[in-house]
Order: sequence, then C-alpha cells, then structure tokens
Amino acid sequence: MQNCAGVPVLRFCLSMSEESDKSSSLCCVILAAGLGTRMKSDLPKVLHPLCGLPLLEHVLRAVGDAGCARTVVVVSPQAQLAIAGLVGERAAIAVQPQALGTAHALRCAHDLAVGATDVLVASGDTPLVRAETLRALVTARRQIGAAVALLTFYAEQPAGLGRILRDPHSGEVEAIIEEVDCTPEQAQIHEVNAGTYCFDGSWLWSALEQVQPNSRKGEYFLTDLIALARQQHRTVHALLTRDPEEGLGVNTRVDLARAEAALRRRINERHMLNGVTLVDPDTTYISPEVQIGADTVILPGTHLQGKTRIGRKCEIGPNTLIVDSVIGDRVRITYSVIRDSQMDDDSDAGPFAHIRANARIGAHVHIGNFAEVKNSALGAGTKMGHFSYLGDATVGAQVNIGAGTITCNYDGKDKHPTRIGEGAFIGSDTMLVAPVEVGAGAKTGAGAVVTRDVPPRTLVVGVPARVVRALDDAEQA
Ligand code: UD1
Ligand code: MG
Repeated sequence: MQNCAGVPVLRFCLSMSEESDKSSSLCCVILAAGLGTRMKSDLPKVLHPLCGLPLLEHVLRAVGDAGCARTVVVVSPQAQLAIAGLVGERAAIAVQPQALGTAHALRCAHDLAVGATDVLVASGDTPLVRAETLRALVTARRQIGAAVALLTFYAEQPAGLGRILRDPHSGEVEAIIEEVDCTPEQAQIHEVNAGTYCFDGSWLWSALEQVQPNSRKGEYFLTDLIALARQQHRTVHALLTRDPEEGLGVNTRVDLARAEAALRRRINERHMLNGVTLVDPDTTYISPEVQIGADTVILPGTHLQGKTRIGRKCEIGPNTLIVDSVIGDRVRITYSVIRDSQMDDDSDAGPFAHIRANARIGAHVHIGNFAEVKNSALGAGTKMGHFSYLGDATVGAQVNIGAGTITCNYDGKDKHPTRIGEGAFIGSDTMLVAPVEVGAGAKTGAGAVVTRDVPPRTLVVGVPARVVRALDDAEQA
C-alpha cells in the first residue's frame, strides 16, 4: 500500500492488513444504476433518505468500515452528478449507459476494479448490511478459495427475491433462481439472496462475459454466475446471516419504511446499551450520527437528527425535535424545536420553545413557553419565561426578559442587532426597536417601546421610551 510509509497512518494500515495479506487486494463495487422504477420517484432510489442519510451513504460507510481501500460505484447517466456529489473522494464512479441488469452493471466497473484478487459486490439499495458481515464474506472466500461467497438469509416473505437452490443431498448451493423464473415449488423456498457477494477476481471478469440475457426480462442477471461457477466445478460458499434485516433490499417505499424501522431499532438499542433511557423506543427517532451521554432520558415523540450531540443526565421530550445542535449536561427540553444551536449545561427550554439559527443559550438559562430565539446569544442565568422573541440579539448574564418582549429586528429591508447588558430587567411587553442597546443593569417599564439606546442603570418607560431616572443599587434587578 503506497500510503503506508508515514507514521500517522501506520495503525490504519495494520488494521487493514488483518484481513489482507500482501498478495491479496480487495475492491468493492456498489451497484447503484438501477432505474428504481418501483419507488415511483424523481429522486434516484439510492439517494432516498433512511434515518436521515441516503441509502447509498449507509452502504458506503459499511464498505469503508470493512476495510475496502478501493471502491467503485456504478451509476446511471441520469443520476451520475447527484451520486458523484455524495460519494466525493471515497469512490470512483463507473457509468452504466443503460440499465441492462446487475451482471451488466458489474461489467461496467471492470476497468476500475480489474486486478483486485477479491471483488466485493454490494447493492446500493441494501443499506443494513454490516461491515463485519462484508469482512466475513471476504475472509470466507479467501479461506475456501471459492469462486464466490454470497450472503443469504431467511425471508418470511421471499416475494421478489432470488431463491437459493441447494443440492438436496449435499446441501451445496447450486443456483439462484430469480422470481420470474421460479416454478411454484421454487417460489416456496425461503432462503434468499441478499445481493451481496465476494468474487474471486481472477475468475469473475471472464465469467461475466458468459452471462446471457434472461429469457423473460432481457436483463443480464448477476445471479446467473452461481450456476456458472457450479458448472465449472468451482466452489460456491453461502454465508447465512442470522439477521434477515441485513438483506433487506429497498425496492419500494414499503421496503423503505421497513428498513427505517429496522435501522431505528438498531440505533435505539445501541443508545440504550450505552446507558440512555428511551421511555418508548418505538416513538423515538434518532439519526445515525447523533451522540447522547449516559443517564439522559428521552421521552416519546422525540426526533434527534443530523450531527446533534446531547450531554449526560438530560431530559429530552416528549415531542421534541433537535437538529444539528449541541446540548450540554442536565438540560431539559420539553415539546420544543431546536435547530443549528447550542444549549449549555443546566439550561432548559419549553414547553413550546423554538431555538434556531445559531442561537447560543448559556448555562442555567431558562427559556419558557412560546419563546423564540434566533441567532442570539443569551448569557448565563438569563430568564426568558413567556411569549417572547429574541432575534439577532446579544444578551448578557442574569437578564430578565419579561413576558411579551420582542426584538423588532427587521425594518422591512434589513435585520438589525439588539444588545442587552448584564443584569438588565426588560419589563413585560417591551418592544426593542433595533438597532438598539440597553445598558447593564437598566430597566424598561411594561409596554415600553425602546427606540433609542438606554444608558446603564437607567429606568425608561413609555412610547417611545424616555429616561425616568438613574437607578440606585437598591433598585437593581
Ligand atoms: C436483486 C437480485 C436478487 C436479490 C435482491 C436482494 C439480481 C438479478 N437479483 O434483485 O437475487 O434477492 O437483489 O435485494 O441481481 N442495478 C444496476 N443496474 C441495473 C440493475 C440494477 O446498477 O441494470 C443495481 C440497483 O441500483 C440495485 C441493485 O443493482 O442497487 C439491485 O438491483 P434491483 O433491481 O434492486 O434488483 P432486485 O430485484 O432487488
Ligand atoms: Mg433491490
């Protein structure tokens, strides 16, 4: 491996070499050029989101975790741009000019994959396959010297899937029969093809040339390689996964919902085993990249999405949406929506708060009901209990934002900032007409419309607000 010279990559190289000795090389081809017609969608099938990430992203990660140094994604001309954008530097792109079947798709990867001793083939529409399983396929093929090691599983409802035909005496896999070609008896078989294989790279490419179009569908079926290998007296090894979800292929939106439920269960179990309480896992929706600290309790109806991080001992929910946000320890968020924002330790929000667009909520801040905070920073210990809007504001520590306070930050053309100094007391129903600054320790009377800056430790009241007097120490909030 060329990049093994430098010290920083040494550990990576060692872990790669666990699976591969010096004479072997692994290339993975992900098939993703199918038309996906059964999805009935303008979006390419493999880009449909599953727990917030495209189907193909899940497969790319599994393949990467399995230690594939070289990956090729086969795409249709229509989806080429969109898929290349997702794939980035992680894989090379091969274009299948026409969707002529899975064998034809693999042939399109020849120039980019040839030379590898092992060719791992995964489907872009089978997102729940695990990296360990992919590794096990490669290891098994190498140890046995098989022409192909393939992944199979038992499906309760095998409709639409390739059935595994075994020799009744030896139990050896003889062929995969696609549904279109099944006899009624073969259709009863429940062991099916997961669409994931590891091929002997020195056998694969010439064998692919021999695949004939299917007489009923006209497509070149990759599954025909199994019977071909057997005709040539080569070994075919079947690895039966005990987890049928690994083989779950997404062909319709019904399959997509099934895969979503399965992956959600997997993610939720990981968090529970890490010490997070999910009161009702069936109504808790956590995206793959979310991190949650131990002893946090997630109440029903909660959605945690994107790159959200949540600390320890928090109580989140019920019915809360948090997207791409960072939440500290011991934070309580009830019936609220938090996006692209941060809440520090011991703060709380809700019920019915909306915190968004890079809002930074300091430690021990209280955000109560029907409060919206947009692109604003609130200093430690500040309270904003009821019916308020803070937009483009910088608020110091220990400020009281009275019920009904509004930062009037938009003049119809531009947004303007509001600054509120430490320890200020904003009376109920105050309108802060931005740009405006309220000094530290200042007070506004109920219903004040503040159009001019308020000096520190000064009381203003009225419409528009006028200075009443300077405040002495006893009158400070
Ligand atoms: C395929 C298998 C079937 C297996 C099932 C598991 C074949 C013939 N059948 O059926 O045995 O049980 O997967 O999910 O292989 N693709 C291309 N180009 C094409 C056609 C398909 O790249 O011309 C890609 C698709 O984007 C998809 C994958 O290959 O990611 C599988 O194709 P799909 O049409 O979904 O095959 P299945 O009917 O699911
Ligand atoms: Mg499929």
